[in-house]
Amino acid sequence: MASGAHRDATPFPPDGKNPDEQRPDRSAPGVPKPCALCGGSGLRVIVREDGAQFAAECSCQIARKAELRLRRARIPARYAHCELENFETRFHGADGTLTKALTAARHIADSFRVEQDGRGLLLTGGIGVGKTHLAVGLLRALIEQKGAVGLFCDYRELLKEIQHSYNPQVAATELGILRPIFEAEVLVLDELGAVRPTDWVWDTVAHVLNTRYNHQRVTIITTNYPNDPPALATNDAGEHSPRKAAARAAREETLGDRIGERMRSRLQQMCIPVWMQGRDFRQRVSSGFSVGF
Ligand SMILES: Nc1ncnc2c1ncn2[C@@H]1O[C@H](COP(=O)(O)OP(=O)(O)OP(=O)(O)O)[C@@H](O)[C@H]1O
Ligand SMILES: [Mg+2]
Ligand SMILES: [Zn+2]
Repeated sequence: MASGAHRDATPFPPDGKNPDEQRPDRSAPGVPKPCALCGGSGLRVIVREDGAQFAAECSCQIARKAELRLRRARIPARYAHCELENFETRFHGADGTLTKALTAARHIADSFRVEQDGRGLLLTGGIGVGKTHLAVGLLRALIEQKGAVGLFCDYRELLKEIQHSYNPQVAATELGILRPIFEAEVLVLDELGAVRPTDWVWDTVAHVLNTRYNHQRVTIITTNYPNDPPALATNDAGEHSPRKAAARAAREETLGDRIGERMRSRLQQMCIPVWMQGRDFRQRVSSGFSVGF
């Protein structure tokens, strides 16, 4: 046997141990058994009806690669359980907007790379209505079922990364550091608008979003701010309006206030806007609410 000949010719290492004895015992509990379909080679022979044979990647390899892509997507542990399948829409008192949001997410998953022009989702709504759950569920579906390369990114973390990417020696941002965020086929940007960046940091955020838009890459955004224009402190003729400024100060801020109208309107083209409302799911769970299917 070739392997036997090889073994005979291989001297034992200085510690005198037989290298074969150091290999994992595949029959031991906890050690994965080789795949029953391909014997661990990763390839399967497919025989066509006309008798022609060809090698194809085994399903165990496809699953292994999906797992690797999932790990690289940097989904926070808190959201590791989130899938489209376990996003509930039929509990007692569930708002109809949850079903609409889930349908929009499923549509993006189903039409990915087919009829889709790279449109993502813009999920807006109050605290705990399930925006991040749905965004992660969609990201996960695209990674596992469509072979996408994706990334989860918290907006505050992105701002920090942009700040760190500033190189004082050349007085410019090293965009290479942000490459994964520019290039990920699917990006979840969680909590857009949660903090206000400085002008140059915001310019970089806008550059990231514009680049992704121009390349038709899918961006899934969540935000707590209502998807409305800013209440500008000017009247319709462009003059300063104390009345509007006062109204703005008195009410809740909008997404337009937080990211500017130009970017907000760009997001309507990049994404399907979906408004989600309802009770804070965290309180529902902690108060022991039952799920009424
Ligand atoms: N419809 C739902 N079905 C199942 N789990 C849900 C649903 N909505 C929310 N959850 C769960 O409730 C928790 C809070 O949801 P999530 O973080 O997605 O809310 P959010 O809208 O992003 O809130 P925030 O505005 O605070 O960011 C998560 O653990 C999530 O898995
Ligand atoms: Mg969230
Ligand atoms: Zn296999």
